[in-house]
Amino acid sequence: MSTAELAVIVLAAGQGTRMRSRLPKVLHPLGGRPLVGHVLDTAAALSPARIAVVVRHERDLVVQTVQDLAPDVRVVDQDDVPGTGRAVQVALEDLGDFDGDVLVLSGDVPLLEAETLRALLDAHRAAGAAATLLSAEVDDPTGYGRILRDADGGVRRIVEQKDAAPEEAAVREINVGVYVFQAAPLREHLALVGTANAQGELYLTDVVALLRDARHTVAVSTAPDATAALGVNDRVQLSEAARTLNARTVRRWQLEGATILDPATTWIDVDATLAPDVTVLPNTHILRATTIASGATVGPDTSLVGCEVGEDATVTRADATFAVIGAGATVGPFAYLRAGAQLGARGKVGTFVEIKNSRIGEGSKVPHLSYIGDTTIGRGVNLGAGAITANYDDITKHRTEIGDEVHSGSHNVFVAPVRIGDGAKTGAGAVIRKDVPAGALALSVAPQRNVEGWVEKNRPGTSAAAAAARARSAQEAGDGLEEEDG
Ligand code: UD1
Ligand code: CA
Repeated sequence: MSTAELAVIVLAAGQGTRMRSRLPKVLHPLGGRPLVGHVLDTAAALSPARIAVVVRHERDLVVQTVQDLAPDVRVVDQDDVPGTGRAVQVALEDLGDFDGDVLVLSGDVPLLEAETLRALLDAHRAAGAAATLLSAEVDDPTGYGRILRDADGGVRRIVEQKDAAPEEAAVREINVGVYVFQAAPLREHLALVGTANAQGELYLTDVVALLRDARHTVAVSTAPDATAALGVNDRVQLSEAARTLNARTVRRWQLEGATILDPATTWIDVDATLAPDVTVLPNTHILRATTIASGATVGPDTSLVGCEVGEDATVTRADATFAVIGAGATVGPFAYLRAGAQLGARGKVGTFVEIKNSRIGEGSKVPHLSYIGDTTIGRGVNLGAGAITANYDDITKHRTEIGDEVHSGSHNVFVAPVRIGDGAKTGAGAVIRKDVPAGALALSVAPQRNVEGWVEKNRPGTSAAAAAARARSAQEAGDGLEEEDG
């Protein structure tokens, strides 16, 4: 097998009309990465001499994404001649006198594995072919180019759906849109391709018949898994591709030692990491670069976006974005952790609690019905139910600082900026507007005053007044008895 140099061309200039989207098709996300990002990753796995991406529709947006994902990739601009053939032509011009193998990938065929492409390259080099196509057998070939063969089984040409006669359209062997070519014959024969077809485009697929006519060898390599070879042209196919990719990702983490109870309702982005002995309960989304450490349990009904979950932590029915959850901590049920929430080891964020841009120290607890924003909380703190940090004065956000071992009463408001010293306590219902020194008890509620008999006097005839009267008689009778006894 020759070891000719390899160049990869990724086609990403098309509009993707069938997506009916403002976003260019190749930028639609799949498993947390744009379609074209998947293709670039697979290309990079082959360690080619160079990778070029052809752009045109929403060019700047696509280039930005491509350069963020793969800074070394060459960007080539397609001109106003439409079609995959033209896209390859401009990329070839950019390759200069490159003389090795050219692997053409479609920016909208995201699920192919590097293994499949290596097999395609091997087949190409073994056959000494001028072109080798990747094909797939599918039940429903609608929309794809069909591979038409001669009586002897060799490839004759590819016909596009829109140009196909009925008997051609019945063929179920499709062109995946991925090929290897020898650079020189490709360059020579692509120059002969015209645009006389149903779409008025310069089809790359037409080069196949021209190579055959010139007695070049055109080989075919069949993709082992047809579902991985499917393209994304509309939103239906996008969701099918997402399901295929997700099933692959879930299976990978299961084999790495994660218990994932319900693969159908668990969605894991390609950049997430699950340690062995993680348990994922149904309806859970593990997105972006979320990492979950060993022994942690997440779900059910949980969404984690770019989070870090520590060892043995428990996250139940929670929504967390860019949050850090410490080892052994518990979150939920029904908790909302926003960007910058950091929960220390063995800490707790309980039910109906929202945390934003706040650090909660080791072993500290915010168990019930609270909003904590722009706050630093030390270790061993317990905030009573209904703690609210009033962090916003209509103009700016201010910080609340709570020291170690602070215990607050229920239903407190901390009006920021404010500091609570170590070991301090606050009374129920307190509105803390001034700093509390270490070890102090802060009370801000006026002493309670009971106006005896108010209800019977001011609400006569109501059921409350009747209940009060009954209680008074019972009390008086009891007092009488006590007096007799005494
Ligand atoms: C193409 C193939 C078809 C194959 C299918 C597989 C052609 C003519 N047809 O059809 O045989 O079965 O892929 O998925 O090649 N693009 C450009 N410049 C353009 C047009 C398209 O770069 O001028 C890019 C697109 O961004 C896309 C890829 O090429 O990434 C394929 O284009 P698309 O229009 O989706 O082609 P299909 O109709 O799917
Ligand atoms: Ca396509």
